[in-house]
Amino acid sequence: MILAKTEILKVSKNADTAEDIEKLKFASDVIKRGGLCVFPTETVYGLGADSLNEKAVKSIYEAKGRPQNNPLIIHLSDKRDIEKYCETKGVFGLDKLTDLMPAPLTVILRAKDTVPKTTTGGLDTVAFRIPANNIARKLIELSGTPIAAPSANISGKPSPTGVKDVIEDMDSKVDVIIDGGECDIGIESTIITLCETPPVLLRPGKVSFEKLCELLGEVNMSHAVLDSLKPGEKILSPGMAYKHYAPDKPVFLLKGSTEKKINYVNEKNKTEKTAVICYESDRESINCKDTLCAGSENDNEAYAAKLFSLLRKTDKLDVDKVYAFLPKDTHGISLAIYNRLMRAAAFNVINLE
Ligand code: TXA
Ligand code: MG
Repeated sequence: MILAKTEILKVSKNADTAEDIEKLKFASDVIKRGGLCVFPTETVYGLGADSLNEKAVKSIYEAKGRPQNNPLIIHLSDKRDIEKYCETKGVFGLDKLTDLMPAPLTVILRAKDTVPKTTTGGLDTVAFRIPANNIARKLIELSGTPIAAPSANISGKPSPTGVKDVIEDMDSKVDVIIDGGECDIGIESTIITLCETPPVLLRPGKVSFEKLCELLGEVNMSHAVLDSLKPGEKILSPGMAYKHYAPDKPVFLLKGSTEKKINYVNEKNKTEKTAVICYESDRESINCKDTLCAGSENDNEAYAAKLFSLLRKTDKLDVDKVYAFLPKDTHGISLAIYNRLMRAAAFNVINLE
């Protein structure tokens, strides 16, 4: 930290009033001086610092308690900056992906030596993204530097999607927290690497696997998207090796028909203090101690938007176990929900089919 205490600044989603700009100038000044600033994006809140300042980047790892070999995404405000930090010449598919940006999409390319190794976790590749959130892009533009930003949670916890969750993890560890309201998407960006042929999906998100296949022709899906890793297995994305998105209570995932899932949790609740994460339409049939709902079975975007805040909520409940309903399939955003839930539950799936 470079300031004596954490400043919390409320900024409107459009980031377009004189007052908003004043606050963002203050925050960008903190970034320029090597400080830490939490800011909203359309996916989750990010813990930002100047990605070209190694000392500032080190303080990100410290504030999160994150291993230093887990690389950071650099956030840009303008497509013209991509080639300053990444090797772009002749990269298959890059133009198709940049046409989508700003977007909840992170692309991995070979890094230029303008990017410090502290930022890339020692790798010779770098992940970049241009966020769609106006506050984020304005902050990057005013800072005049790419902002390195992992999700603004303590390492291993679910990512924060609202400012209350940010304050819980980051108060008095960062100089500035920008309160930009709830994040629209609620789960982190899709990550694809163009350093492999064909390209590989490393982390699913709102930009779907189907969309990437449509744009690029062939895309492989890393097996770490849905499976656990074998001990010592080498993977393309170091972050996948770590425990993730986990609340304090043990989480179990339920697969099968709605009726079977409901009967299962109601039965369990007779002998355990049970919290259930399910769809709104299931609420009336469930008699568990705590029932946490998001969206309908036909609207998994709403499930995604609430998922992390519901997982965090279970830490405050007096329950022994958390059961979460898995979406029926893994299409579109449901693949991302599957991927995050699998890690939150350490791959504990109860198959009721
Ligand atoms: O939506 C998001 O992407 C959010 C917001 C703040 O932008 N950020 C985010 O960052 O989720 P983080 O650090 O929590 O997750 C980034 C993941 C990590 O698992 C990391 O290992 C991986 O991206 N990653 C970063 N650079 C990489 C690289 N060069 N090669 C492979 N994986 C990389
Ligand atoms: Mg993260």
